[in-house]
Amino acid sequence: MRRISSFVVLLCGFSSALAGLAPCVELNDGNKMPIVALGTGRGTASESASVDEVRQAVYWAIEAGYRHVDTAAIYFDEPEVGQGIRDAINNNLVTREELFVTTKLWGDKHREQDVVPALKESLQKLGLDYVDLYLIHFPVAVKEDGSYDDVDYLETWRGMEKARALGLTRSIGVSNFNASQVDRIIANSRVWPAVNEIEVNPTLTQEALVTHCLELGIAVMGFSPFGFVVSRNNPNAPPPRADDPVLVHLSNKYHKAPTQIILRYLIDRGIVVIPKSVNKKRIEQNIDLFDFSLNDEEVKLINGFNKNHRVIDFADLKDYPNFPYGEY
Ligand SMILES: NC(=O)c1ccc[n+]([C@@H]2O[C@H](COP(=O)([O-])OP(=O)(O)OC[C@H]3O[C@@H](n4cnc5c(N)ncnc54)[C@H](OP(=O)(O)O)[C@@H]3O)[C@@H](O)[C@H]2O)c1
Repeated sequence: MRRISSFVVLLCGFSSALAGLAPCVELNDGNKMPIVALGTGRGTASESASVDEVRQAVYWAIEAGYRHVDTAAIYFDEPEVGQGIRDAINNNLVTREELFVTTKLWGDKHREQDVVPALKESLQKLGLDYVDLYLIHFPVAVKEDGSYDDVDYLETWRGMEKARALGLTRSIGVSNFNASQVDRIIANSRVWPAVNEIEVNPTLTQEALVTHCLELGIAVMGFSPFGFVVSRNNPNAPPPRADDPVLVHLSNKYHKAPTQIILRYLIDRGIVVIPKSVNKKRIEQNIDLFDFSLNDEEVKLINGFNKNHRVIDFADLKDYPNFPYGEY
């Protein structure tokens, strides 16, 4: 057992001999969450994956030892994520209880009375009775046509609490919330968010927000973990790339790929990582992280790349109230 930041990293406690490779963190509601999740968003890198590639990726990931899958209503791949999970269960790779499934509520379902039906629709698509974690995807509410809708996320949170009380999700949390938005939920709610899923990578290290959440006992899931170390068709983005001397040095020292160095850097900061891949070898590589760790100096060295530069800026929403970026 090892302590990182305010989190205890512990075995997930699954009895199966095929139990996953990644340890778990204990959430503030007592549930356990594996610290490596397969990302299934399809549209943020240079090439988008097809939904069938996602189905296959989920299966390969479970085969490789992943026990956590991150999806969302807005990724439009919940049926294929569910199929990949069912295939793995039917082939006795894993049981439902050994898996941790995260999905997210999009902004066009932010009214309190819309939250439970939205989660039921996700569950129906996934073919599951419950998810392990349900997140408000973004603090801004929108209408179906994408225009602004005046719904306070505190109202949405009441719907999330109901979904949890009904047993449709084991844990509830938020995504892309800044520190004051997290604080406002805490100050006005019965159930605290268990998780804040935010972008974290070498060019967006988010040290203040990560610390804020961890000190409150809110786990941080880090999306787009590779930043611009992988190809994003964005040559003007700040370094590092995979051939950066710092990453090459650490890569040689630990006999790991630069992408594995980045994932381990995030884990050593107490962050749950969500690497996306639809390639079998890279899926396996992205969970092969538990035979080395970075020291504090090496974590600081990678923090030094920070430029507060995002892979994903949700620019379509930037003029709406409650847009979270800009403040930490
Ligand atoms: N909550 C939110 O608002 C939010 C926003 C964005 C993303 N997310 C979640 O976070 C996940 C990850 O984010 P992301 O997809 O933006 O970025 P990412 O995981 O940082 O990067 C994905 C890209 O890296 C490539 N890749 C993966 N492993 C690699 C390796 N070992 N070596 C070289 N290249 C590798 C992938 O290509 P291949 O597939 O070809 O390997 C893909 O092009 C998403 O899938 C989604 O689940 C959440």
